[in-house]
Amino acid sequence: MSVPATNVLSDVLSEWMKTMFESTFTDVKYDFSQITVVPTGDSQFGEFQCNNAMAMAKDLKKSPRQIAQSVVEGIDLHESVEKVEVAGPGFINIYLKTKWMSSALTEMAGRDDLCVPRIGHGHTVVIDYSSPNVAKPMHIGHIRSTIIGNSIDRMHRFLGYKVISDNHIGDWGTQFGIIIMGYRHLLDKVALESSPIEELERIYVASYEKGKADEEWMDKCRAELVKLQAGDVENMQLWRQFVELSLGEFERIYKRLGVSFDHVRGESYYRDRLGDVVAELKERGLATESEGAIVVFLDDEKLPACIVRKSDGGYNYATSDLATVESRVAAYSPEKIIYVTDERQQLHFRQIFAICRKMGVRVELHHVWFGLMRLPDATFSTREGNVIKLEKLLDEAERRSLAIVKESSPNMPEEQQKAVARSVGIGAVKYADLSQNPQSLVTFTWDKALALDGNSGPYLQYAYARIASVQDKYAERFPNSNIKKYPIELIEPVERDLAVKLLQFPETVLRATLSYKPSSVAEYLYDLAKTYSTFYQNVPFLKAEPGVRESRVRLCSVVAKVLRKGLELLGIETPDRI
Ligand code: ARG
Repeated sequence: MSVPATNVLSDVLSEWMKTMFESTFTDVKYDFSQITVVPTGDSQFGEFQCNNAMAMAKDLKKSPRQIAQSVVEGIDLHESVEKVEVAGPGFINIYLKTKWMSSALTEMAGRDDLCVPRIGHGHTVVIDYSSPNVAKPMHIGHIRSTIIGNSIDRMHRFLGYKVISDNHIGDWGTQFGIIIMGYRHLLDKVALESSPIEELERIYVASYEKGKADEEWMDKCRAELVKLQAGDVENMQLWRQFVELSLGEFERIYKRLGVSFDHVRGESYYRDRLGDVVAELKERGLATESEGAIVVFLDDEKLPACIVRKSDGGYNYATSDLATVESRVAAYSPEKIIYVTDERQQLHFRQIFAICRKMGVRVELHHVWFGLMRLPDATFSTREGNVIKLEKLLDEAERRSLAIVKESSPNMPEEQQKAVARSVGIGAVKYADLSQNPQSLVTFTWDKALALDGNSGPYLQYAYARIASVQDKYAERFPNSNIKKYPIELIEPVERDLAVKLLQFPETVLRATLSYKPSSVAEYLYDLAKTYSTFYQNVPFLKAEPGVRESRVRLCSVVAKVLRKGLELLGIETPDRI
C-alpha cells in the first residue's frame, strides 16, 4: 500500500474507473478515455466521484443510473477504495479506505516533495517575466508579471523542470533617442543625483512631449537614436549609464520581493541579430516589402501583418522577440518558453508565435497574460505608476503589518517584529495579486489584503504559525516522545476531511503548474486552512488520549508542511511566529 509517486490520486482513480467501464461494456463501441474521477468536496458523498454515466446515456441507450449500476455491480475495487455507490441520477461515489489514506499521508509526511510528481525532470523551460523598460516607469503590469512570473517559476522548479528565468528588460528601444535629447538639454543634475530614475522618467516625458509639438526636436531624437545604434561612443556611454541606474532601482524591488533571475539579458543582447532575422524571413519568403517596410503577412492566421523592419530601416519590438526566440532555442534547447505580461501584449505574442511556427522553430511558446489591477487611492494607475510608488505600497504594507504583529506578539523583540512584519506585508501584497483569477480586473484593498479572518496572505501565514505552535507545545509537554512511532489515524470525520484535502496537494500543484495558475494553489491553501481550523476547533489535541494525541499532532505537522510548501510556491514566507 503506497502512494503512487508519479501519479496523482485523481489520475490513478480515473484510470481505474476507465478500465471498469471498459470491462463492463465490452460489446459497446464508445470512447471511454473521457472518463474522469473528481473530488466530491463533501465527504458525505465519498471522497471522489465519477459523473460520466450522464453523458453516455444517449450513446449507450441506457439510463445513466442503469449505466452506473452495471459498473458498480461488477467492479473490482481499487486498493485505495473501500466502497462505491450509485447516487442521484447516476453518479458513482467513491469512498476511500481510511487505512489507505493514513498510509498515503504518512508517506507524504516523510517526503520533501510531498508526493508531487517530478514530471519536469529532464525538461527545460525558459520563463520570461518582469521585463520592465529602462528609464521608463515600471508599471503595475511589470509588478504583476514579477509576482505571477516568479510563482510560475517556483512551481516549475518544484516539479523538477530546469528553469531558465530571464528578465527581458526593454533596454534597446526607440525611447533612447528621446532620453538622450532630454539628458542633453532638459536635465536637472541635482535631481539625477538624488533620485535618478525619477529624473530619467521626467526627462523622457518632457522630451517626448516637446517632440510632439516640435518636429525638429523629434528629428534630433531620431538622429541620436541612429547614432546610438551605430555604436557612437558618447551615446553608448550615456545608454549604459541609463541602464545601470534603472537596474539598480529594479534590483531594490526584486530584493524586497525575494525575486532573482538567471539572466537579465534584455533586448540589447539581441541587437546584432535583428538584420539576420529579417534576412532569414525574406529568404524563406515569409517577409515582403510593403510601403517601404518589411512585413510578414499573417492573413492565413487571421492576424494583422507584423512589421519586422520599419520604413526608416529601424527594427522593432517584434524583430527583437523573434531574434530572442532563436537565440534561446539555440542556447538552451528548451521545451517551452513562457512569457508573462499584461493583457495588452496578446496580439504581439500571437503574431510572434505564428511567425515562429512558419519558420519551423521547434519550441512550444506560451503567453500567460493577466488583467490590470486597481490599487488603493490611485496609488498608481497604469499610466502613472512607477518604481518609487511600488516601494511606497510595500512600505505601507510593512507598516500596517507591523501594527498587526505588535498586537499579536507584544512581547516579541522589536527587531523580530519588524522582520515578521516584512514577511507579512510583502506576503499580503503578493497573495492579493496571486489569489485572483489573473484574467479578471481586480481591485486591491488593504482590508482584504491584510484580513486575518479571510482569504489573505496573513491569514495563511497566521494559520501556519498557529500550527507550528501546536507542535512546539507538544514538544514542551512531552519532550521525550518519539512521535514518529505513532501512526497517523483518521478517526473523526473532520480528520478524514483534512486528510483528503492534504492528499489533493500533489494534483493541485501539478494542474496549477500545467495551467500556469498560481491562483489554484492559493485557492487550495485557503481551503486547507479552513478545513484545518474546523478540525482544530472540534477535536482535542494535547488533551486527547495518548496515541490519538500523537496522531493529531502528526496530522498537524503535515498541514504545516503543505502550507509552508504551498506558500513558498507563491513566493510567500512563513514566519514561525506572528
Ligand atoms: N518590456 C516589455 C514591456 O514592458 C515586456 C517584455 C516582455 N517580454 C518579451 N519577450 N517581449 O512591455
